[in-house]
Amino acid sequence: MLQIQENVSLKNFNTFGIDANARYFTEINHEDDLVELFLDEQWKHLPRLVLGGGSNMLFVADFDGLVIRMNIRGIEHRINHDHVTVEAGAGEVWNELVTYCVNYGFAGMENLSLIPGSVGASPIQNIGAYGVELKDVFHSCRAFEIATGEFKTFLKEECGFGYRESVFKSELKGQYIITQVKFDLSLNANLNLGYGAIQQELEKNNISSPTIKDVSEVVSRIRVSKLPDPSTIGNAGSFFKNPVIGEELFKQVHSQFPEVVNYPAADGGIKLAAGWLIEQCDWKGKVVGNTGTWKNQALVLVNHGGATGSEVYTLSSQIIDSVYTKFGVMLEREVNIIK
Ligand code: FAD
Ligand code: EPU
Repeated sequence: MLQIQENVSLKNFNTFGIDANARYFTEINHEDDLVELFLDEQWKHLPRLVLGGGSNMLFVADFDGLVIRMNIRGIEHRINHDHVTVEAGAGEVWNELVTYCVNYGFAGMENLSLIPGSVGASPIQNIGAYGVELKDVFHSCRAFEIATGEFKTFLKEECGFGYRESVFKSELKGQYIITQVKFDLSLNANLNLGYGAIQQELEKNNISSPTIKDVSEVVSRIRVSKLPDPSTIGNAGSFFKNPVIGEELFKQVHSQFPEVVNYPAADGGIKLAAGWLIEQCDWKGKVVGNTGTWKNQALVLVNHGGATGSEVYTLSSQIIDSVYTKFGVMLEREVNIIK
């Protein structure tokens, strides 16, 4: 039976640990709960926010609407020769799914180990890390269309995946709720070891023929060394995207700062390391009131305790201004700002 609570604190539902309230809050355990919820017209017309693990959100204000927390569970797999299909409910914890696959020897997700959050949110920004993006293992997802009350399957080619992008963040924003994701994995490990830090960590540990599990462990270790653990220091991972700029602007930046950290971007243009740009503006490890940037990774804004969403947001605006003033490059926030 669907339950709607009133005035619920979201402090434990966002990894920034921001103390914001939801006017209404409900948990979805089955697809039928969504059908039931939206049969009632009142919820269709209120502002609503779908919530997974809350690890990519900054609450700048209380949410004066309905928060829909996804809790649909279940993981299943089917093996056909060396191909594996895995299906997982939107409310499964992403890293638990990765661990399930790594333990069974299903290859493809190991580089995405230890990313916080839920399975249902993974297509929203096409999560990515260490040379792999969700789109590399994604087959399709099932989603509830709020306007019609019907379920639709989105194949990979319909999702518009790009660097931290999908149709669910752009033209279809707010229209669908993902209930299940289906993945294509393999029993033949075709490991992606191209990311420099992975190579170094494997060498350091004298691993010359790594297994899926080795890669998962190495990635997890690298992540722990760089990123703050949200259970002790509130944060939402990278606060900004790495900016992708054109040749002209790159030439200007490079002529003044030849050491600028850059990579060719997948869809053309040049990607700059936002963490480097921010560090060059002397923000790395800086504490500003209850907030600041992380000492090991300037791209991560943190809550040192008791920060408000506005405080973090104001700091992010100051960082955008100083990077723009120094480099002429405009940073874009990656975290979802809830106002
Ligand atoms: P939430 O924060 O709850 O929601 C994110 C967005 O998705 C919101 O717009 C929400 O409305 C929407 N949404 C959530 N669930 C659904 C659903 N079922 N249907 C429709 N819309 C939905 N991200 C990376 O890509 N790579 C990283 O390496 C990475 N590292 C991180 C490290 C740390 C320490 C932290 C805290 C975050 C990191 N992130 C990273 C960001 C975060 O883990 C991902 O964005 C993750 O997918 C968010 O999942 P979530 O369930 O917490 O989503
Ligand atoms: N760098 C600095 N100073 C810093 C941080 C980074 O100079 O404070 C430079 C270094 O040269 C470093 C380079 O930037 O080599 C890249 O840094 P890192 O490997 O930490 O990766 P990133 O580009 O900062 C991106 C993702 C992360 C993902 C890692 C690993 C974005 C916005 N962020 O970070 O994703 O885990 O690569 O693939 O693309 C997230 O989205 O929340 C997230 C953590």
